[in-house]
This record gives sequence, C-alpha cells and structure tokens, in this order.
Amino acid sequence: MTFYVTTPIYYVNDVPHIGHAYTTIACDILSRFHKLKGEETFFLTGTDEHGQKVEKASNLKNQDTQNFVDEMSKSFRDLVPFLGCDIDDFIRTTENRHKKAAQFLWNKLKNNNQIYLSNYEGWYSIRDEAFYLENELKKVNDSFIAPSGSPVEWVKEESFFFKLSSWEDKLIKYYEKNQDSILPKSRYNEVLSFIKGGLKDLSISRTTFKWGIKVPEEDNHVMYVWIDALCNYLTAINYPDEDNHNFKTFWPGVHVVGKDILRFHAVYWPAFLMAADIQPPKKIFAHGWWTNEGQKISKSLGNIINPYDIINQYGLDQIRFFLFREVPFGNDGDFSKDAIALRVNADLSNNLGNLIQRISSFIVKNSDSKVLKPKRFNQNDEKLLELFKKNFDNYLNHMNLFQIDRALKNIFEYLSEVNAYVDTEAPWSLKNSNQERMKDVLYIVTILTIRCSVLLFPIIPSSIKNILKIYNLSIENFNYEKINNFFPDYLKLNKPSPIFPRIEL
Ligand code: MSP
Repeated sequence: MTFYVTTPIYYVNDVPHIGHAYTTIACDILSRFHKLKGEETFFLTGTDEHGQKVEKASNLKNQDTQNFVDEMSKSFRDLVPFLGCDIDDFIRTTENRHKKAAQFLWNKLKNNNQIYLSNYEGWYSIRDEAFYLENELKKVNDSFIAPSGSPVEWVKEESFFFKLSSWEDKLIKYYEKNQDSILPKSRYNEVLSFIKGGLKDLSISRTTFKWGIKVPEEDNHVMYVWIDALCNYLTAINYPDEDNHNFKTFWPGVHVVGKDILRFHAVYWPAFLMAADIQPPKKIFAHGWWTNEGQKISKSLGNIINPYDIINQYGLDQIRFFLFREVPFGNDGDFSKDAIALRVNADLSNNLGNLIQRISSFIVKNSDSKVLKPKRFNQNDEKLLELFKKNFDNYLNHMNLFQIDRALKNIFEYLSEVNAYVDTEAPWSLKNSNQERMKDVLYIVTILTIRCSVLLFPIIPSSIKNILKIYNLSIENFNYEKINNFFPDYLKLNKPSPIFPRIEL
C-alpha cells in the first residue's frame, strides 16, 4: 500500500496564517500515520504563484513579480519545519518542471479534443480566482458579490474553453460508484448535487494579463490559474513521465482541501484528469474553516492568527493537539484561548503528562529505574491489555476515515482507564508489602503508556520523541502492526522532566 497526500498549494499574495497551517498539519498527521502502518508515503505541499491575485499583490508592493513570489514562497516553505511537518517535496508553480508538466497536460487535453477557442463574457472574482454565474451572486447595494463575499468584475475576452459539460454524466457515474471518494459524506452529497445541477464549459485561459504559464503555441493566452495549480499534484510525482517510479507508485493521491475549494478539486480536477486519460484522485477530504473567538478570520477585521505567535505562546504540539482534538476534522472550529488551555490541561497535562511523570519518577526512585516483563498477568492486567487492543482497532478505523478527533478521544479515554488502574492497584502502597506485584503493575502501566504514545506520534511527534527518550526508545522501533505485541523483556528508564506544563487560564 502507498499513500500520497497533498495540501492545496497556497497563494503567495500574503503571508501564511493559521488556516494554511491547519491543512499542512492535517496532511502531516495523515502521512505519519500511514507511514507507521508500514505504507510508502509521499507528502506534498507548496505554493500557487500565478494569476491575477498574486500579480496584483506584487504590484501593490511595487515589487518585481518574480522577486515577490520568491520571497513569499519562502515564508510558506520556512513555516513547514516550524509546524513540525515532515514533507517529501515543496512545489512552486513558477518552477520549470511545473511549467513543462502543465503545458504537457494542456497539449494532452487539446489532442484529446477537449479544448476549443471562443469568447468569455461574465463575472470573475480575482480574490477567489473563480468564474461565477449571475444567479450565484448576491446583490449588495448596487454591486454583485460572490458567495464567498468577494467582489466580482465583468470580464469579456477571448478564451479557450474546456468541454466540462461533456463530463457531467461520466462524473455522476464515477461518484455514484465511488461513494467514499469525497469525505465527509455531506460534502460528497454537495458535490454530486452540484454536478447534477448541470455543468457548463469552463474558461481555461486568460488574455488580459501575462503572469501565468503560457498556453502552448498561443502567445496571447496564459492558462487559467486553477488548471495550472491543480496540475502541481502531478508535476511533483514526475508527470508527464508516467512510467516513472513516483508516478506509478503514488498516483492517484489523496487531496486535503478547505471546503471553499472543493468544487475545483472534486469537479474540475477529475474531469481534467479523465479527459487526459489519467485516473481521478483516490480521495478528496474537505475540512472546515476556523474562526477567531467566534469571528470570521479576515485581514480587514485585523484578527488573522499568525502561526508563529500562537505556537511561540502555547507550544507546537499543544497547538497541533488542540486543532485536531477540539474540532471534528471536516467541521468548522473556533479558536479560543480558553479552549486551548482547557484542552491541553485536561488531556496532555493531567491525563497523559501526570501519568508518565508519576509512574516513571516512581520507577526511577523505587525500582532501580527498571521494569521487567512479569512472569504472569492477573485478571486486571489482562482486562487492561485487552482493552488496549479494542481501542487500537477503533483508533485505526477512525484514522483511516480521517476522524482524527475521534481517534484522539479514543486514546485519551483509554489513558483514563490506565490512570484508574494505577489508582486501584496503587503501586506505592505495595512498596513494603508486595514488591513483586508493585513491579508488575509498573511494567504494565509503562508499556501501555508507551503504546499510547506511539499512537499519538502522528499528532504530537516532537513531544512523543521526548517521551520515548525516557524509556530509551525511539519511534523507529515501532510500527502499528506489532503494537499489540509490544512486551519488551526489560526497560531502563531515565529521570523524566515535565513534558506538558499546565497553561494558566
Ligand atoms: N491556491 C489555492 C489552492 C490551489 S490547490 C491546487 C488556494 N490557496 S489559499 O492560500 O487561498 O488557501 C489554501 C487553503 O487554506 C484552502 O484549503 C483554504 O480552505 C484554507 N484556509 C484559508 N483560511 C482558512 C481558515 N480560516 N480556516 C481553515 N482553513 C482555511 O485556495
């Protein structure tokens, strides 16, 4: 099995904010999860650098457009390691490899008789880089606005069109056969009913500006930024070399996108691909949007959340954890400082952190820093070990369905059971009366804490690396296939230092 996961490529008209960080971290979690399942993975992110929106932003800064995109792209690239994300490639649409791939795709569509020249006349939103029908727009005062709230302008120009209308039936058939290819289910229904509402041919080139990939053999036309952008997912795995290892191994991939750009990925993209004799994506997952203390996040409201600020304030894994534990992946979420503190304190500091702290320091102090595999397990031990298996199965099911919040909830419910076991077995009270049983209890708690930590690794990797160091272990020692059999003969512990300090409310 292989797993190719992509983030949308980010527009470089502005610096990254929490919305971008959210998608990138989501893909990092999924990629790390699939790697631990033993799959070959490829995780791609990058920047979307063409089109009117980016050109306009560079003009506003009075900067040469190429210099501008170089600088802005770097701010997205630098953010990746800061978010603790382990990517396999970072693609920029201004790279040569991408121009070549996009032009190849264009020619393929042209040769397959999917493109024709005509005139476009209608509404366009630069902010969304999208064409709209008048009946999709809202009238506010005397002007029209897009469903996203963005302004639109009337455009009239010669344009190449993609025969999207001829793909309507094939897309419907494809989606009716592949019901889990768009998640969550509500988004699948939304896409299907949009397609059933009728598809019009799509304008795919522009003539009124130059900042884009040239249409092959057509000097006046640059490609519509979305056909250019979507193609990045192929470029990065070496398209058009379809016999290449990466293309053969990783396509079709999984696209994680925000709900606002689902239509481009779930309608236009599969149609382009099928029209170019390429398989459609394996899966498209649409996530929700974050608000800030109940308010829409926007530049004009001045409430943009800078990922650097928030991570410096609360800690990387604290934020990664909050984003994916607090809100079901797929739903909208609200970013609130109180919610972060409550969540981190309850789960990371109290439940996991305290458990590790009190048990491992007790082992260091009272058991010569060692735990040994017991000769036998009693009923309570067996019960807790069985429960791990059950929770592990649930974790796998949830993670396979992108239900990261439910997978996490599962682990923390289990950790509460481990804490309850510690309270009942009370190893400290066995210190003088039954050393052997005390040591058995310490062993059980230790290995189960380690197993839970390994399940948490995709979400909070750097903290888990530190936790594993307490036990002289490293994540490379683990994969999920063998986790139920993790019964080491012997573990030597190091003195722990506190891992998740409580956040003051
Ligand atoms: N360039 C296009 C994508 C092309 S992919 C072939 C684009 N870029 S974007 O920079 O505007 O947005 C990138 C992603 O950030 C989108 O998935 C969008 O949903 C996400 N978010 C932007 N603001 C967000 C929030 N407030 N909350 C969560 N995600 C948000 O679209």
